[in-house]
Amino acid sequence: MITGGAGFIGSHVVRLFVNKYPDYRIVNLDALTYAGNLENLEDVKDKPNYIFEKGDITDETRITELFEQYRFDGIIHLAAESHVDRSISNPLAFVRTNVLGTVTLLNIARQFWGTDKQGKLFYHVSTDEVYGSLGETGFFTEETPYDPRSPYSASKASSDHFVNAYYHTYGLPVIMSNCSNNYGSHHFPEKLIPLMINNIKNSKPLPVYGKGENVRDWLFVEDHARAIDTIFHKGKVGEKYNIGGFNEWKNIDIVNLLCSIMDKKLGRAAGDSAKLITYVTDRPGHDMRYAIDATRLNEELGWKPSLQFEEGLEKTVDWYLQHEEWINHVTSGDYQHYYDDLYAKR
Ligand code: NAD
Ligand code: TYD
Repeated sequence: MITGGAGFIGSHVVRLFVNKYPDYRIVNLDALTYAGNLENLEDVKDKPNYIFEKGDITDETRITELFEQYRFDGIIHLAAESHVDRSISNPLAFVRTNVLGTVTLLNIARQFWGTDKQGKLFYHVSTDEVYGSLGETGFFTEETPYDPRSPYSASKASSDHFVNAYYHTYGLPVIMSNCSNNYGSHHFPEKLIPLMINNIKNSKPLPVYGKGENVRDWLFVEDHARAIDTIFHKGKVGEKYNIGGFNEWKNIDIVNLLCSIMDKKLGRAAGDSAKLITYVTDRPGHDMRYAIDATRLNEELGWKPSLQFEEGLEKTVDWYLQHEEWINHVTSGDYQHYYDDLYAKR
């Protein structure tokens, strides 16, 4: 079972597993919230080893029925509320899905797997944001103490602690990874990169929070999916792995790079799109810098990122320009309300 498979990263994980492992039966469990979109999986939906089940991870009855029906032996858990700005407006939604939902899944896995845990694995997908915010130097390692500072990262940190607790208390076979910021195709345009691509395309203001100097460590989403595949199959039970691209960028530098890539692709004069950059009020509690040390994953399991950022960003822009219908669907309806509400206040 892959939870959250209709979302951004989940859809890449589902695609990779369905295509690479024809002998696995992959059940994608997703509640199809605003962030879930079955159009993300058009290319695999008819494959014989793929099944979609609509369901909410907090719904104990529904999840129990699915366990009875499919007898899952592996779970890759990605379903979550994932956007920091939404967590600031509505923290309880994050507690519900990220904490209660994760514990519901852990409980049911524990019940079904009982004492025969051979060949079973609960893989929890988490974020580097649980480690807090870095100054100008240093990296997050697997030993960095947790110090979450947003409602989103606090809810993910809590879910990580429950996963560890189920390992130590009940011997549930678990594994966890904490990844840096992802980018790539099928990314909902509430997050920095797809939001900027969409706004540049539509000549709308490009809202940069604060001074644009916050730093994130960006990884191409297909590299994250490959890392999950590697850890799921080769990782050590009870262990955690950091995933990142050693690829730190200031927000403003990314926005400028996107502007110059898109000026060329849209046939605009150099510097045209950058005129849309608008500095807006900073996000409350805005973490300054994230940077992952992914040495363990590289040295123990042999994973490394495959793409340079500039190449990945160009591929991403091309995907958005070629998928106008996708972007029109996801930005219709509620998106406009969300956007107006959040950005009018800045
Ligand atoms: P996303 O918001 O794009 O997708 C989340 C998916 O979960 C959606 O399909 C949604 O419908 C589903 N979902 C939400 N609540 C649910 C519920 N109660 N029951 C069942 N399904 C539900 O998120 P994403 O960016 O793909 O992130 C996936 C996971 O990876 C999350 O756990 C996130 O914390 C983690 N992560 C994300 C990043 C990133 O840069 N996006 C980086 C590191 C880790
Ligand atoms: P985001 O994509 O929301 O990811 P996260 O906050 O989980 O790292 O934001 C990435 C960075 O971009 C973060 O420092 C906030 C900033 N940002 C903007 O400056 N403007 C925006 O409109 C958004 C959505 C983000």
